[in-house]
Amino acid sequence: MDYKKYIADRIKIDGVGENEIYSSIALPPNSEMGDFALPCFKFAKVLRKSPVAIAEELKSAYVTDGVISEVSALNGYLNFKVNKVGLAGSIISEVLKEGDGFGASDTGAGKTVCIDYSSVNIAKPFHIGHLSTTVLGSALYKLYKFLGYEVVGINHLGDYGTQFGKLICAYKHWGNKQEVEKGGIHAINELYVRFNNEADEQMESEAREYFRLIESGDREANEIFEWFKALTLKYVEGIYSRLGVKFDSYAGERFYTDKMQPVIDELRAKNLLKESEGATIVDLEAYGMPPCLILRSDGASLYATRDLAAAYYRKSTYNFHKCLYVVAYQQNLHFKQVFKVIELMGNDWAKDLVHVAYGMVSLEDGAMSTRKGKVVWLEDVINKCVEKAYNVVAEKNPDLENKSEIAEKVGIGAVIFGALYNNKIKDIVFSYDKVLSFEGETSVYVQYTCARANSVVSKAEGIRLPNDYQPNAAEFEVVKAIAAFKTTLVEAAEKYEPSYIARYAVDLAQKFNKFYIECKILSAEGETKDFRLALTAATLQTLKNALALLGIGVPDKM
Ligand code: ARG
Repeated sequence: MDYKKYIADRIKIDGVGENEIYSSIALPPNSEMGDFALPCFKFAKVLRKSPVAIAEELKSAYVTDGVISEVSALNGYLNFKVNKVGLAGSIISEVLKEGDGFGASDTGAGKTVCIDYSSVNIAKPFHIGHLSTTVLGSALYKLYKFLGYEVVGINHLGDYGTQFGKLICAYKHWGNKQEVEKGGIHAINELYVRFNNEADEQMESEAREYFRLIESGDREANEIFEWFKALTLKYVEGIYSRLGVKFDSYAGERFYTDKMQPVIDELRAKNLLKESEGATIVDLEAYGMPPCLILRSDGASLYATRDLAAAYYRKSTYNFHKCLYVVAYQQNLHFKQVFKVIELMGNDWAKDLVHVAYGMVSLEDGAMSTRKGKVVWLEDVINKCVEKAYNVVAEKNPDLENKSEIAEKVGIGAVIFGALYNNKIKDIVFSYDKVLSFEGETSVYVQYTCARANSVVSKAEGIRLPNDYQPNAAEFEVVKAIAAFKTTLVEAAEKYEPSYIARYAVDLAQKFNKFYIECKILSAEGETKDFRLALTAATLQTLKNALALLGIGVPDKM
């Protein structure tokens, strides 16, 4: 049951929409005051009354019932107490009944969300800089699906550009089929690095010719290119499968080769194009931005041109409700420009394009994704984390069976959670020790809590939720946290913040552990025992569902 919605439905404030009331309802800092609170400060302006007076009036108008048993007004807050017995019974039985589907809804029914994420560059390293886009995009993908949206996951491949001419040239000079086949993306990357270090004028000019050959459909050049592409994709798909990441489309930049001209024609017809130093641009000075480059002076298209074509293609193919671009904040300007151009072309759906920007990830030793010659491959980070997870798990519980399997879940979880736990726009320093700690705000902590809950539940002979059980304070904190799962999901989707789910999981785990320490479970008796077991089972299920949305599995034992 969504209590916030229940309350919001029963409050009317002139000039304030139901959605706003809904999103204003929060948990009070102190649970003595109530279980939910509506701060009235922001309504003061519209209503021309003091927050204290507003809270008083709303209190008099509110009719309590079997769900909300008490309402009070204090210092400009309207506080609600829920019927504890009713809430505990209804939420636990809902979780136990819905299982893996608990938290799912059909809010998004009939709406499609396109999510452009991970977007690898063919023949280039898949490095730690791709971690956030991959796991953020994937979490949003799972979240929107869970909320009933149709979701299209798009890997907008970086498979267009003069570097492919260079690569083919390098391969022709120094490459060897078996070596590349065996070394895969690493071998290809070495060829590219070698070209950049060693190529002379002659090779540069050959490279331009190879690029032209790819563009003009030359068979051999395209075969080599397709081979490099296949090797890159095979490599990244191995990583995607470990991270639980999926795509519905791999339409990359090249896919738009023949789809740019109509957009350019439309831009021209709408008088939006200008010549500037030989190049073709859309002037954005009036909007305080540098021009958006559409064609270079040699007639070649640009990154932005392909993004314009891609946006049009996605709109006409998927008729999206929203199209998200999960891309680092370094590209803020690029997306602002592209979205502006689409708006200037007269498309009202420009407002549905969203750049979901995120911060940088670096390692503790200062290594970053882009620093020259010091690329940190994402695969190495994952392997190292899984290796360390093995030691951490083995140390905690030397008798565990399937240590490798568990270490994979724990290590992968730590990589994902480490990237997702903070507000996405923050730069983060990834620390193996920190993300693999059993204490602290980590996936390991949450997984360990699940293992603990699982061990209790597996010793029970069936789960029977008693009727009309009056929960104590520690139990009720867990109940309320479980009841907050749905609103957390809705807010996470609205703000494109999987971190809300990560934080939620830690919060629920903490409350559960407090309950676990304070209250006997298996050695309790009668209805108390039954209730506590049911509460434990419901917590386990909710934590599993939360972690699953982030792409993290839960081992039975740890
Ligand atoms: N491949 C690009 C990069 O690595 C990211 C592409 C993002 N998506 C887009 N539609 N531009 O920078």
